[in-house]
Amino acid sequence: MSQPTLKATVLISGTGSNLKALIDAVESGELDLDIMRVISNRAKAPGLQHASNAGIAVSVISHKDYPDRESHDAAVAQYLESDRPCLIVLAGYMRILSETFAKRYSDRMINLHPSLLPLHKGLDTYNRALQAGDRETGASIHFVTAGLDSGPVISQIRIPVFDDDNAESLSARLGPLEHKLVVATVKLFSQKKITLRAGTVYLEGKALEKPLLLKDDGTFSATA
Ligand code: GRF
Repeated sequence: MSQPTLKATVLISGTGSNLKALIDAVESGELDLDIMRVISNRAKAPGLQHASNAGIAVSVISHKDYPDRESHDAAVAQYLESDRPCLIVLAGYMRILSETFAKRYSDRMINLHPSLLPLHKGLDTYNRALQAGDRETGASIHFVTAGLDSGPVISQIRIPVFDDDNAESLSARLGPLEHKLVVATVKLFSQKKITLRAGTVYLEGKALEKPLLLKDDGTFSATA
């Protein structure tokens, strides 16, 4: 029997290229996902156009209209409570979350981060990977907890760092791969294969000891 289509809300702040990758995958039939709404904390986020073009409901909830983090998060939560998505994707959502919000959705909220977590949490990840002399870098998708870019890591993609790399070249190489990672990972959710229990990620009922690694052929393996 086929699974019912997974309902999702995507939160963005900027370009929305990962949102676009999800929309494209849905439109091509690669991904069975109902993106119910896109929420942005910035009215001018270019990514909102991708949502509008695809006929997805858009809500702008500017953090500037709220006195503090808690009240802004509560306004976002109002939409989540009425839509009741099974998956919340933070796709370039540049906000630190209040503990209340993070805890409330901790079993169904994921974040994309352009580093091999737990390395380089926070901003400017490419330059920090270069400064640290890392020989490889990548992107991670993790369940969200109250700590910045913390929470159990579900999946990763890795790329080598070359001697002549800079932040721009790393970003250019990693960007398209991060799009593949988000589509492939959300697909696992749409197939109901991923769950989180007591801080451990399970794939088809089996505890993940390491993040899933997305290979060139588009399939996952456990990381070495
Ligand atoms: C991505 O690199 C993601 O890892 C980070 O923010 C960026 C968002 O890019 N959290 P976009 O808005 O999806 O183009």
